[in-house]
Amino acid sequence: MRIAALCAVLGGWNFGMSIVITVAQQKGGAGKSTLAANLAAALAAVRRVAVLDIDPQHSLARWHAIRMARTAPAAALTFSDLAGWRLAGELDRLRRTHDVLLIDTPPVIDADSRRAIRGANLVAVPVQPSPPDIWAAEGTLKLAAEEKRPACLILNRVPTGRRLRETTDGELRARGLAVLPAELGNRAAFSHAFAEGLGVTEAAPRSQAAVELRAVLSAMLAQIA
Ligand SMILES: Nc1ncnc2c1ncn2[C@@H]1O[C@H](COP(=O)(O)OP(=O)(O)OP(=O)(O)O)[C@@H](O)[C@H]1O
Ligand SMILES: [Mg+2]
Repeated sequence: MRIAALCAVLGGWNFGMSIVITVAQQKGGAGKSTLAANLAAALAAVRRVAVLDIDPQHSLARWHAIRMARTAPAAALTFSDLAGWRLAGELDRLRRTHDVLLIDTPPVIDADSRRAIRGANLVAVPVQPSPPDIWAAEGTLKLAAEEKRPACLILNRVPTGRRLRETTDGELRARGLAVLPAELGNRAAFSHAFAEGLGVTEAAPRSQAAVELRAVLSAMLAQIA
């Protein structure tokens, strides 16, 4: 069931080459590591996936360590934390043996983030639906534009209420920012799965969080195709 659902998401999506997705946003706590981990876990069920953690906080490294220590093993993922000037070479090396490379980045715009964006086929910018988060995302989008890399905003932790939603939509429209036509709600399943070294499609494949994650993945792949 889980694999079938993911294959449906990936249906028709054939990699002529490996792809690199960089998750970046200078605002802390936007959901970069959560998004990177969940995309990696979902894709690992059906593709060869490597995750790269270039954030000195190493949240994704910890997630991966928990995943490796599980008594019930999860789908295999290659992990790397090479950063700095060695990143480009590491991407070249991993591209040869993997279908998808996912890079989690620190909440700053620095030389490392720029290198990770430069190497990407798509820059995924998670953003919580509040004006300061949207303003912060603009710096990351500008960097992607400077590096001539396609980027998409992905709304994360979207509450059910309409008021904030309308304000957010207004901010996005006023700034002419395009947003992925799929989003993630504010769901405890994401933190529960992360604590177990899993993604929501593994820990709770029938949850609303998993449904949303698959929709986000599908919409992201459509941006690359
Ligand atoms: N969709 C979601 N629903 C509920 N909680 C979420 C969601 N996305 C992220 N979170 C929670 O928000 C917090 C911050 O998420 P995360 O660590 O992924 O952000 P980050 O952008 O990587 O942060 P940093 O900039 O510090 O690296 C975590 O506690 C995470 O569990
Ligand atoms: Mg993080």
